[in-house]
Amino acid sequence: MTMVYADRGDDAEQIPVRRIKFTINGDKKIAEVEPRLLLSHLIRQGVGLTGTHMGCDTTNCGACTVLVDGKAVKSCTMLAVQADGCEVTTVEGLATASELHPLQEGFKEEHGLQCGFCTPGMMLAAKALLDENPDPTEDEVRWALSGNLCRCTGFKRMFGVEGLSNLAKGVVKIAIVGAAIWTQVWPERGTIGNVLDTSPAGVAGDMSHLLFKVLIAALAALAVIAAGDYFMQRYRFIQRNRMSKQEIKEEFRQTEGDPAVKAKIRQLRMERSRRRMIAAVPEATVIITNPTHYAIALKYESGKMAAPVCVAKGVDALALRIREVATQHDVPIVENPPLARALHATVEVDEAIPAEHYKAVAQVIGYVLKLNGKMRAN
Ligand code: FES
Ligand code: FES
Repeated sequence: MTMVYADRGDDAEQIPVRRIKFTINGDKKIAEVEPRLLLSHLIRQGVGLTGTHMGCDTTNCGACTVLVDGKAVKSCTMLAVQADGCEVTTVEGLATASELHPLQEGFKEEHGLQCGFCTPGMMLAAKALLDENPDPTEDEVRWALSGNLCRCTGFKRMFGVEGLSNLAKGVVKIAIVGAAIWTQVWPERGTIGNVLDTSPAGVAGDMSHLLFKVLIAALAALAVIAAGDYFMQRYRFIQRNRMSKQEIKEEFRQTEGDPAVKAKIRQLRMERSRRRMIAAVPEATVIITNPTHYAIALKYESGKMAAPVCVAKGVDALALRIREVATQHDVPIVENPPLARALHATVEVDEAIPAEHYKAVAQVIGYVLKLNGKMRAN
């Protein structure tokens, strides 16, 4: 085997070269290699087997995995001279001329590849595991392949729940079809046993009849399986596409705005409105209370306003604050529980009071104005 090296200005006579012997995929080889040559380069450029891929050159991706004396090795981190006397297996050594290796069949059937770049390394890592442990657990499989990265993620389907459920489905399908065929063949076992005593025409008739029944039974079983599969796929499709609570929240947040932000805005608005109401209390004509829970501040200017206007209203703590401010600014406070409750329920701030309360409010304001007149007279 002739190796070609990069010319780095060295005197060709002085480049140390080692002669190694190794076997690759069953073929015995001799190579003259520089001690610094990587095994991956010997395999790809020296032997010309390019199924061993190079993804990173830094022992991270596992694409260059080969078997050296049966052990999975990342060939980008092993020197060619270390393979002296060893048996190397690359992905090209798995299949025979006529058939794929069972691992290759398995990967193909389970769609365990997409672009295929990582697949040779994955297969050889899997082979090393299975040669040592033919019945590994899922954890053992995951551990054995943990040094091999797949940028396309096709392996999730093989080793995930989906892979297992596909396997189970396949077994159930075979069992159903097999049972359907058995129900037709078993009752006819006597006829089949008598075949030697029957004329060729009779055998042909019996067999075609039996085959027809088997065919119908198999088709019926497949129809049942297809119907079941349809509903199962439909159910899984709906499940897969159903939004989780978190996704619904997130979408609501994106379309409607963050509820926390909205609550904060609402709180700020209420605070602003509260301050505005309290600021209007000193201008009020009268405060009607029930006497402790409700407080309604009304303003009326004779000749300027058609009806009294509510300038502030509140319950409990806010009602208390309205009464305190009213007291500080000598605004009259009149206790009238039914009127206070009715006004609180029917009038909004900055609105005139409804007509049905004109009479009751007029009496209160009349009383207050009379009181103010008396006080001024005194
Ligand atoms: S090329 Fe060897 S580990 Fe990535
Ligand atoms: S199948 Fe593409 S990187 Fe693994």
